[in-house]
Amino acid sequence: MTMARSIPDFSFALLASLASALVLSVQAQQIPGFISIDCGASNEYPDNDIKAIYSTDEEFIDSGKNMQVSTENIYDYKLQYGRNLRSFPDGKRNCYTLRPDRGNSITYLIRATFWYGNYDMRNKTPSFDLYIDVNYWATVNTSAFYYEEILYLSKADYIQVCLVNTGNGVPFISALELRTLEDDFYGVGSGLLRLLWRYDIGRSLNSSIRHPDDVYDRIWAPINYDAFLTLNTTSAIDLFDDNDAYKFKIPGEVLQTAQTAKNASFSMDIWWDTSSSATKWVVYFHFVEIGRLTNGLQSELTISTNDNQFVKTVTLEYLKPVVVVSTPMSGSKITFSFASTDKSGNPPILNAVEIYAVSDLPNVPTAQDDVKAIDAIKDTYQIKRESWQGDPCVPRNDTWDGLSCSYGNPPRIISLILSSGNLTGEIISSLSHLSTMEYLDLSNNQLTGAIPETLAELQDLRYLNLSGNNLSGSVPEALKKKVMDNTLNMSLTGNVNLCQADNCPRKKKQKNILVPVVTSVSSFFVVLFGALAIVWLIKRKRIPESSERTLRLKNRPFKYGELSRITGNFGRVIGEGGFGKVYLGTLDNGTEVAVKILSKSSKQGYKEFQAEAQLLMIVHHGKLVSLFGYCDDFKHVALIYEYMANGNLRQHLSGKVKMNPTEDHLKVLTWSKRLQIAVDAAQGLDYLHNGCKPPIIHRDLKTANILLNENFRAKIADFGLSRAFATENDSYVSTCPAGTFGYLAPEFQSCGNLNKKSDVYSFGIILFELITGQPAIMTSQDGNANMHILQWLIPIVESGDIQRIMDPRLQGKFDINLAWKVVEIAMSCTRSTAIQRPDINDVLADLKESLVNKSSGSLEMSYLNLQFDSAPVAR
Ligand SMILES: *[C@@H]1O[C@H](CO)[C@@H](O)[C@H](O)[C@H]1NC(C)=O
Ligand SMILES: *[C@@H]1O[C@H](CO)[C@@H](O)[C@H](O)[C@H]1NC(C)=O
Ligand SMILES: *[C@@H]1O[C@H](CO)[C@@H](O)[C@H](O)[C@H]1NC(C)=O
Ligand SMILES: *[C@@H]1O[C@H](CO)[C@@H](O)[C@H](O)[C@H]1NC(C)=O
Ligand SMILES: *[C@@H]1O[C@H](CO)[C@@H](O)[C@H](O)[C@H]1NC(C)=O
Ligand SMILES: *[C@@H]1O[C@H](CO)[C@@H](O)[C@H](O)[C@H]1NC(C)=O
Ligand SMILES: *[C@@H]1O[C@H](CO)[C@@H](O)[C@H](O)[C@H]1NC(C)=O
Ligand SMILES: *[C@@H]1O[C@H](CO)[C@@H](O)[C@H](O)[C@H]1NC(C)=O
Ligand SMILES: *[C@@H]1O[C@H](CO)[C@@H](O)[C@H](O)[C@H]1NC(C)=O
Repeated sequence: MTMARSIPDFSFALLASLASALVLSVQAQQIPGFISIDCGASNEYPDNDIKAIYSTDEEFIDSGKNMQVSTENIYDYKLQYGRNLRSFPDGKRNCYTLRPDRGNSITYLIRATFWYGNYDMRNKTPSFDLYIDVNYWATVNTSAFYYEEILYLSKADYIQVCLVNTGNGVPFISALELRTLEDDFYGVGSGLLRLLWRYDIGRSLNSSIRHPDDVYDRIWAPINYDAFLTLNTTSAIDLFDDNDAYKFKIPGEVLQTAQTAKNASFSMDIWWDTSSSATKWVVYFHFVEIGRLTNGLQSELTISTNDNQFVKTVTLEYLKPVVVVSTPMSGSKITFSFASTDKSGNPPILNAVEIYAVSDLPNVPTAQDDVKAIDAIKDTYQIKRESWQGDPCVPRNDTWDGLSCSYGNPPRIISLILSSGNLTGEIISSLSHLSTMEYLDLSNNQLTGAIPETLAELQDLRYLNLSGNNLSGSVPEALKKKVMDNTLNMSLTGNVNLCQADNCPRKKKQKNILVPVVTSVSSFFVVLFGALAIVWLIKRKRIPESSERTLRLKNRPFKYGELSRITGNFGRVIGEGGFGKVYLGTLDNGTEVAVKILSKSSKQGYKEFQAEAQLLMIVHHGKLVSLFGYCDDFKHVALIYEYMANGNLRQHLSGKVKMNPTEDHLKVLTWSKRLQIAVDAAQGLDYLHNGCKPPIIHRDLKTANILLNENFRAKIADFGLSRAFATENDSYVSTCPAGTFGYLAPEFQSCGNLNKKSDVYSFGIILFELITGQPAIMTSQDGNANMHILQWLIPIVESGDIQRIMDPRLQGKFDINLAWKVVEIAMSCTRSTAIQRPDINDVLADLKESLVNKSSGSLEMSYLNLQFDSAPVAR
């Protein structure tokens, strides 16, 4: 027996007949809770059978090469994600990092698909190991179309899937899928369930069932045992009863087919030989009685193993599903028998079965604080080392090059050697977050700026080598003291601008950046003032000295002249925003970028800008427009962003752009696209507010700052910048540092610190724009009078007639109940007092729910052909 799940030839006749049916079917879309990666693909695309959008590797990994299976193999399988793959000739371990929306402590189904397809024309199947985070998952060694699947409860906010080269060929992967389960109904707990088989018993068609029929996209392979009778029904299975079986959400189609014994006096046996008698197995049996019951008789059966490790009797009611979960079993051969009880009028039945191996997770990952710190160091200094992937310390053999760790529980980083590593910029504070560090060598780099005092906070630090850099300022007293006390060996030679004497010139005063810290005060205070006070503490933060006035982009210094070159001498203006003009540029590797040249009118200093930009360059999220870099010389200031092909949302709502230049009539964003955009933007904002520490307040959220990519998926732009840069719109609110009239929450129209709730207000205005198509400040037809969108719509909404506010360009093509729901969400966001507005997290949850409701009701089949080398045997 092998664990291979392979997919043989696919019938093209079936494909052709499907093609026409698909025209009418529901469009593929981004499914909440799904991450679908077609590894090695060059473009994102919708898979119309699986009804999900498959994205490229881009956001998830930065090593490896895109490859395609050989031309003679390319049409062997219908699944598009099998046709290309990503291979990893370099590095021992290469890891994908998945960041599911729901974060940690959630059960995920993770499936990795492999199809060698002789992509390298060497006809030699490689073998390599697969890891889930720091633990072994499986060894891949087959040339068949094959997938490995696990159910896994994540402990961190991200999940890493790593391919480890074991010296038996170049690792590769064809697809990686993550599906979020609603609950831990499989009982994964702290371990791991690795799928062996999942069968839809009694199905006579060759096609498997998966998404959209299965909401969790489990793949149900058909199987029919000759030894049993096959039964199917067209009656609907009762899937809505509030019992345990309901939680599993087994598709009705899977339960509508079954096999039974010949009659009630026969039993059914199913068994398989295990490869290792040490492995523990858990089996999930899915039963529904689909045969009619004779008057007065029940359907009752007993499930047992030959050694009586497991015995269970269940009573089945007509069309009501029941799930029986075995206890963990072990042995070289596992046999289950199904027999009717004396009371039963029907033969034993089995509708579906899932068999999993239970694995432990013996390896403990590196302490999270250390991981965060080292990731920030990797990002800031753009360290590109082959081994710097996956967990820094674990597994022990794969510790990142230049690191040493202590292997307690959890493992910690104790030494970091980055000597001669081309590091530029300042010594960042993340280095002092590696709190158990004993040995730090940053010698022979081009580090500039001062030596941070925080390095002296490292209690265990006994070796610090900063020689051969270009550091300046004076040496912190606390470090000098450690040297005097003989607890630290420090080397600072070769830093010509560093003052090592005792009487150095004092540095100029640093400017402060606000870092919000929320503190609840003592109950005494609460009684005194009758309210919970929120105190904003001002924390000092170092601002880098602007010695390095070059753009750092993909580890390559850029000059202003080069910006001119990549934009074709600033030839193509693609926008004109709050900050100045935006130009289209193309990097040497072909990546298109948006280059924003900032207007010189800005009042704030370059230093603040630089500090801010450096911070924002390390903020990455799929729903935020990435800042690739910046350029800041004495004359010019520019920001280099990810290019978004479809411009901003305001343009689309105002009908000023044609969606397709070849068509002369204007196309309108459909209702479902608008909902998707709202969810995307809410996800981006949720990340800024709740995923970043400290939280980032956008301060200038508006439809002009919501950008759309080629698939009309939205990303938020310009976050965090308004603090460092004044916008043109300042004229409206001359005394305030940021914000745009119309989007600014009432409490801030006079002035004040913008906070999360003011962003939520702005988000509410955006929702109303999506609903109505109107701008935040509406202009009367004669162009003289202005009116705020809320002034216009609140009376109408209160009168209960939302049809009148809906964008006429939707031509009534929306679900009125859903529209009400979104209006309600928008109303809650724009409540006049901040405390009444919800957190963006709740807004996101509500919006997602609307989106899910909208997409339900699709009953398309997804055709996938599966066959198994050695399925369980039956008699
Ligand atoms: C891979 O499988 C082949 C055939 O089953 C076997 O000969 C080979 O030893 C395996 N390689 C590894 C590294 O396990
Ligand atoms: C149900 O049974 C009929 C008759 O045996 C068969 O033609 C049909 O394909 C079956 N349906 C499924 C889904 O197996
Ligand atoms: C199902 O697959 C088997 C083996 O690949 C093939 O012989 C059979 O004709 C297929 N049946 C249908 C209905 O496509
Ligand atoms: C089951 O079938 C066998 C023969 O195939 C028959 O002898 C027996 O009476 C049947 N039992 C029932 C309960 O129908
Ligand atoms: C890791 O190291 C241990 C001993 O330290 C060794 O037994 C094992 O084979 C190594 N594993 C790999 C994948 O190199
Ligand atoms: C440092 O940069 C030089 C020149 O750009 C390059 O040749 C060298 O490989 C780099 N070293 C490291 C460790 O990245
Ligand atoms: C510091 O690093 C430099 C360059 O790597 C080396 O020559 C020097 O010996 C180191 N100093 C100490 C005290 O180890
Ligand atoms: C060191 O930094 C100063 C500015 O602080 C700069 O003028 C000088 O060129 C730098 N030297 C080297 C070798 O990079
Ligand atoms: C500093 O280096 C000296 C000489 O190598 C060594 O004897 C001493 O123990 C070191 N001090 C610390 C704190 O590691």
